[in-house]
Amino acid sequence: MNRPSAKADAAGTGGPAAWDAGLYDRSFGFVSAFATDMVDLLAPEPGERIVDLGCGTGTLTADIAARGADVIGIDGDAAMVERARALHPALTFEHADGRDFAIEGQADAVFSNAALHWMKEAPADVIACVARALRPGGRFVAEMGAHRNVRIITDALYQALAEEGVPAGAVDFPWYFPRTSRYVGLLEDGGFDVTQLYYFARPTPLDDCPNGLADWIEMFGRNFTDAAPPGRVQAVVDRTIALTRDRLCPDGRWITDYTRLRFVARRLAED
Ligand code: BEZ
Repeated sequence: MNRPSAKADAAGTGGPAAWDAGLYDRSFGFVSAFATDMVDLLAPEPGERIVDLGCGTGTLTADIAARGADVIGIDGDAAMVERARALHPALTFEHADGRDFAIEGQADAVFSNAALHWMKEAPADVIACVARALRPGGRFVAEMGAHRNVRIITDALYQALAEEGVPAGAVDFPWYFPRTSRYVGLLEDGGFDVTQLYYFARPTPLDDCPNGLADWIEMFGRNFTDAAPPGRVQAVVDRTIALTRDRLCPDGRWITDYTRLRFVARRLAED
C-alpha cells in the first residue's frame, strides 16, 4: 500500500507524549487480545487495502495481513512504530497523526482498536480524515473507550489528587470517551452510514500486570500523576489503589471498569 503522508504530534496521535512500547507489549497484550473478534468484524478479504489506525506495536495489523489484506499500520507514537517495524519487518508502518494522515489512492477499510479515544483533539477531524482515506462504500470498523470508561479509576485519581490539594482542573484529561449519540452524530455528519454500533461494559482483567493497577496507572495515567505535588506521586498511586480496591480487586484480581463503543460505518458516496 502507498505510504501515508502526515506529520505526527502528541495531541492527535493516539497516545501520551511517549509510550513505553516494551512495557506495553509485556503487560498490556490484552488490548489486542480482547479485540481479535474485531478482526472478524472487519472481515478482511485477500487483496483489500486496509489502514490500521493507531496500530500500536502491530499485533492486529499482522492478524489483518495474515488474512491476505494489503495493510498499513499508522500510529502517532514513534516508539510504537519502531517496535511494530521490528516485530513485523514484512509489514508497513508509518508515524502519522490521526487528524491529518493521508494515503495515496483510497482504502477499502479503516480499522481502529483502542486508539480513537487517545485522539481527543478534534474527533471530527479524525473522522474526516478516515472518510478521505476510504473509497465510497469503504468501511470504518472500530472500537474505542466509551462514555464512563475507567470512571472508577479516574474518580479515584481525582480524589487522591484533591486530597493532596490538587484541583481537578490541574489534570489534562487525556481521553475522549464519547456518548453513543454524540459519536453517531459525528459519524453521520462526517459522511458515514452507521450500520452497526454497540455500547457495552467490558470488565478488563490486568492479569499480566505484576503490580496490578499501579502498572496501569504508570502506563496510561501519566497525565494524572504528572499533576501530583513534587514527591507525592507514589502517595497518589497508593491512595488510588486504596480507593478502588474493594470494587476493582475484591478477590485479589484487578479487573478494570472498561466500557466500549464498537461500530461499523460505511462511507457514503458523495452527492
Ligand atoms: C481503553 O482502551 O479504553 C483505555 C486504555 C487506557 C486508558 C484508558 C482507556
